[in-house]
Amino acid sequence: KKVVLAYSGGLDTSVIVPWLKENYGCEVVCFTADVGQGIKELEGLEQKAKASGASQLVVKDLTEEFVKDYIFPCLRAGAIYERKYLLGTSMARPVIAKAMVDVAAEVGADAVAHGCTGKGNDQVRFELTFFSLNPELKVVAPWREWEIQGREDAIEYAKKHNVPVPVTKKSIYSRDRNLWHLSHEGDILEDPANEPKKDMYMMSVDPEDAPDQPEYIEIGIESGLPVALNGKALSPATLLSELNTIGGKHGIGRIDMVENRLVGMKSRGVYETPGGTILFAAVQELESLTLDRESIQVKDSLALKYAEMVYAGRWFDPLKESMDAFMEKLTEKTTGSVTLKLYKGSVSVTGRKSPNSLYRQDISSFEGSEIYNQADAAGFIRLYGLPMRVRAMLEKGI
Ligand code: ARG
Ligand code: SIN
Repeated sequence: KKVVLAYSGGLDTSVIVPWLKENYGCEVVCFTADVGQGIKELEGLEQKAKASGASQLVVKDLTEEFVKDYIFPCLRAGAIYERKYLLGTSMARPVIAKAMVDVAAEVGADAVAHGCTGKGNDQVRFELTFFSLNPELKVVAPWREWEIQGREDAIEYAKKHNVPVPVTKKSIYSRDRNLWHLSHEGDILEDPANEPKKDMYMMSVDPEDAPDQPEYIEIGIESGLPVALNGKALSPATLLSELNTIGGKHGIGRIDMVENRLVGMKSRGVYETPGGTILFAAVQELESLTLDRESIQVKDSLALKYAEMVYAGRWFDPLKESMDAFMEKLTEKTTGSVTLKLYKGSVSVTGRKSPNSLYRQDISSFEGSEIYNQADAAGFIRLYGLPMRVRAMLEKGI
């Protein structure tokens, strides 16, 4: 019997290792995914995992896959949850869980385990991915089973089982970081009336402290996906990480919200998504040239459902995958570039161009035009407004 544990090296997951051995009598293989959470978190991890009692640690670099196959499709879809959330944590769970299913096959494990609490969304995202990709795997979620309540309990359990207590000081916030975003929850944020402290933020400066000079950047886009920065072609992960640096410097992408978790409760979260906020502005802007009215309307209405499904962990649901196919086809011609001005927390679009632009100056111009004959408008308006005239005639007895 063997279990693959999603492992971070923090106190909680360190305690899960001896707990699994004691309660399930199984060998524990720890798994850590690099999704751009910062390399510091990966240092000395193997020793730590083994000191906790794991038979081995498997580390996989998922950054390019994460950005290319998870983040970019959400970006292309325009997926935003409850008007604000750019889904940073939601998108990372399926890529990590999928890798765990692969590792389980590689090491011959029959079970997987995670350290999510029983009160959140992450447990759902992990487990729905496990179900979709290997319905035979057993799933263990210690937080829903054990007696350990808080940090003190966990330290005591670690000591009793001779597991070194990680020296990393636990932050007062519950945080989750990857290449797309950093989330903050807990502590003073639990009262939605409290303003976050200035020193909480880690990816972005306070807009008030951002440079007094605006910065212009140009994002190149091909078929709905970003491919270049200031004329230079970059890989998805490199492009995003450069934009995080630039956006962070200008205080871009801070979101403070109260959201509805899938499990029913409301929770308050603060998110930093500097590069992602810039990319959203750029991609959506280019669609204003390449998509017609109805396409934009249908796309935006599907984006709502798409975001809801990603938030709820239904990444590998055929409905969500079919929406990806729709988004890919619809944005096929969304190619071009967008120029943006970054200034003290704001991103504004200053220009857009596309070889596939549906905008035609010869038609739209206030100067005279051949194709658009103003006299045509009179008949169009009469027919377009016919239902309104009929109703008014009825009301007036005409
Ligand atoms: N509320 C956000 C979400 O559900 C962020 C969750 C952060 N997760 C965490 N383990 N700290 O996607
Ligand atoms: C957790 O409960 O593990 C973190 C928060 C969440 O999943 O929403």
